Amino acid sequence: VWCEAVTLTSSGHSLRQLVRSDVEQWLRIWRPDLRPAHGAATRTGLRFVWTHAGLQATLLFRASQVLHRRGVPVLPQLLWRLNIMLFGLDIPPAVDIGPGLYIPHPVGTVVMARGIGARVTLVSGITVGMRRGGDFPTLGDDVYVGAGARILGSITVGSGARIGANAVVLRDVPDGAAAVGIPATVRPPSEAA
Ligand SMILES: CC(C)(COP(=O)(O)OP(=O)(O)OC[C@H]1O[C@@H](n2cnc3c(N)ncnc32)[C@H](O)[C@@H]1OP(=O)(O)O)[C@@H](O)C(=O)NCCC(=O)NCCS
Repeated sequence: VWCEAVTLTSSGHSLRQLVRSDVEQWLRIWRPDLRPAHGAATRTGLRFVWTHAGLQATLLFRASQVLHRRGVPVLPQLLWRLNIMLFGLDIPPAVDIGPGLYIPHPVGTVVMARGIGARVTLVSGITVGMRRGGDFPTLGDDVYVGAGARILGSITVGSGARIGANAVVLRDVPDGAAAVGIPATVRPPSEAA
C-alpha cells in the first residue's frame, strides 16, 4: 500500500548514469586524489564494487529502480527482496533517489520517502518513513544522515542538512542545518557548521 503512496519524481537518469554517479561518489569520498574517468579511477571504482557491500547494495537498488521506472513487471520486486536478503537494505524500487547515493553500510536501512535528492549519504541502520500512515519524508541534495537516525512523517530535510547519529527527526530541517537528539532539535547553519 505504501508503495503507491510514494511520489515518483524521476530524475530521468539512465541506469548507466546512476551507477556511474554512485561509484564516482565513493571515489570522491575515499580517493579524491584520483582524476575522474582516468584509468586508475576506473580500476579503483571496479575494486570498490567488488569489495564493498554498501556499493553492491546501492547498485542492486539502482537496477530495481530503473526497471520499475520502465514498467518491467516482477523483476524490480525480486531485486528489492534480494537486496533485503543479501544486504539488509530495504528500499522499494518506486523510491526516487537522485545520483551519487552513498550507503557505506547497508544493513538495517529502510527508506520509504517521497523523494531524495542527489549525493545523499545514508550511513547505517537508518529509517526514513511514515510517522502515522501515508506521510513520507522528502530529502534534498547533499543531505548527510548519521547512523541509526529516524526521519519520520511528511517533513522536508533541506539540502546540505546533517542529521546526527540516532536522531529522531519529526520536523522540517532547513537547508544546511543540523538536527540532533530525540526528538531532534535543529541547529541553524551558523551553529551547525
Ligand atoms: C550531527 C553531526 C553530523 C554534527 O557534526 P558537527 O557539525 O561536527 O557537530 P559537533 O560534533 O561539533 O556537535 C555540535 C553539537 O551537537 C551535539 N551532537 C552532535 N552529534 C550529536 C548526536 N548524534 N546526538 C546528539 N547530540 C549531538 C554535540 O554534543 C554538540 O553539542 P553542544 O553544542 O551542546 O556541545 C555528527 O555529530 C554526527 O552525529 N555524525 C554521525 C556520524 C556517524 O553516523 N558515524 C557512524 C560511522 S559508521
